[in-house]
Amino acid sequence: MADYKIAPSILSADFARLGEEVDNVIKSGADIVHFDVMDNHYVPNLTIGPLVCDALRKHGVTAEIDVHLMVKPVDRIIPDFAEAGASYITFHPEASEHIDRTLQMIRELGCKSGLVFNPATPLDCLKHVMDKVDVILLMSVNPGFGGQSFIPETLNKLREARKLIDESGYDIRLEIDGGVKVDNIREIAEAGADMFVAGSAIFGARNDADANVYDTVVGKMRDELAKA
Ligand code: DX5
Ligand code: ZN
Repeated sequence: MADYKIAPSILSADFARLGEEVDNVIKSGADIVHFDVMDNHYVPNLTIGPLVCDALRKHGVTAEIDVHLMVKPVDRIIPDFAEAGASYITFHPEASEHIDRTLQMIRELGCKSGLVFNPATPLDCLKHVMDKVDVILLMSVNPGFGGQSFIPETLNKLREARKLIDESGYDIRLEIDGGVKVDNIREIAEAGADMFVAGSAIFGARNDADANVYDTVVGKMRDELAKA
C-alpha cells in the first residue's frame, strides 16, 4: 500500500479547545495537522495566523503542521510561520508575484514547500519549478470554507498531476483538499492522491460524550485507503 497521509483540517475543529482537538485527532491515527490561513482578501473568510501555530507547538503538538496559505501577498508572512513551527508551507500561485522566489524562500527557512491549485487553475506553472516543490495541493472545492462538496473534475486533474510527478522522478506528495469523506477517499487515492485533507468529515463527527470519536472516522478512512 502507498504511504498515505491523513491531514485533518482544523478549520472544522472546536477552536475554544484547539489543543485538545488536535491531540485527539492525532491519537486517532491522523498524521498531519492541516492549518488553513485565510485573510478576507484572497478568500472571503478570516481564520488563524502564526500565533496559533506557535501555540499548538507550545501545547506540545509534534505532528507535522501543514500551513495552507490563502493570503495575498504571501511573502511577508512566510518567515513568521517558519518561526512558529510550520512543517509545510503552501501557497496559491495567483497570490505570489514571483513564484520561484517564494518557493525558494520557504525551503531556505527549513520548511517543505508547495503550490496549491484552485479547481479552475491549470497546472502549467509547475513545469519549471518541479525541483522546488515538496507537495502539490489540488483544491477540490473553491477555497474559503469547509463543508463544501468535492468537485468530480478534480479526479482528472489528480491523474494529470500524478503523471507529472511520476515522470519528474522527484519525491513530491500529491495532496487533495475539499470534500474528502469516507465514501470518496478510495477513488481519490486511486486517481493518484497520497495526502488527504479532511475537515468536516473528521471534526464534524465530534461528540462531547466521547473523546475518541475521531478513531471511528479516521479508522474508516484508513480501511478505505487499504482497498485502493
Ligand atoms: C478550504 C480549506 C479546506 C477545508 C476543507 O478552503 O482549504 O482545508 O477545511 O474542509 P472540508 O474537508 O470540510 O471540505
Ligand atoms: Zn486547506
